[in-house]
Amino acid sequence: MPEAKIALVTGAGRGIGREIAQRMAREGYAVGLIARTKSQLEETAELIRQAGGKALVTPTDVGKREQVLAAVDAVERELGPISVLINNAGAYLRKPFLEISEDDFDFQLKVNTYGPFFCTQAVVGRMAERGAGTVIFVLGSESRSGPLQYAAYNASKLAQRAIAESVAYEFMHRGVHSAALDVDGAVGLERVTDAAGDADPDHFVATQSICDELMHLINQPRNAWTFSVDLRSYWQWRPRVAAKKKA
Ligand SMILES: NC(=O)c1ccc[n+]([C@@H]2O[C@H](COP(=O)([O-])OP(=O)(O)OC[C@H]3O[C@@H](n4cnc5c(N)ncnc54)[C@H](OP(=O)(O)O)[C@@H]3O)[C@@H](O)[C@H]2O)c1
Repeated sequence: MPEAKIALVTGAGRGIGREIAQRMAREGYAVGLIARTKSQLEETAELIRQAGGKALVTPTDVGKREQVLAAVDAVERELGPISVLINNAGAYLRKPFLEISEDDFDFQLKVNTYGPFFCTQAVVGRMAERGAGTVIFVLGSESRSGPLQYAAYNASKLAQRAIAESVAYEFMHRGVHSAALDVDGAVGLERVTDAAGDADPDHFVATQSICDELMHLINQPRNAWTFSVDLRSYWQWRPRVAAKKKA
């Protein structure tokens, strides 16, 4: 029996997560939508339903385990067993290192590290019992080595990469594919391109390219799984990786 096409997308209320949720729905997935702001999730669900898809709104703080477990139960009860989890929810903190408080650090870890940990733990055991499933972690270049003033964010994303890799090796033999999708650079969301004025749109990673890569990972045969993939635009926007300009 082929796996039912049920996806859970975190951070689906806006930005990249909304695009991912819509794409998953277009690919035939019924989609559980997670974020804290119910009204934004309702908007995503409405876009999906207008296009003929199926979505369930489950307002959830991914940093709170009980809420994550309740959301996963609701999605599996209403839609069916989750076959794809996209860990996309994230929060940024940009602050000089000496000003990062303990609360700031906790907050970044809660959303960017505990969140994917709780969500993955809630679904991956059931996927393994069924012998199939995909878990994808949407990372940024900070999961390798971050720019200045992002110490808390970088630490939280680096930890998320470690979870992605551990899950990949622990569950691959049980049919579950875990992959880290590292988006190395600014994404071409409207808020970003608007602020950038007349910058070449190719400076930004297109959300469509992120969704294309996600679908590629999800549809990979189990004898050719990718555990980690990077996407970056030809234009490297961070000084630390920018190509040297000709004198
Ligand atoms: N934008 C970029 O240029 C870029 C580049 C590389 C990687 N990324 C990664 O891509 C992901 C999405 O980024 P984005 O730019 O689309 O972000 P965004 O526009 O700020 O959206 C973030 C989403 O995550 C949700 N979220 C935040 N905290 C949450 C929590 N505690 N529990 C549940 N949901 C939560 C937000 O909803 P609520 O606030 O309502 O909860 C929202 O739906 C992030 O992981 C980010 O690190 C982004």
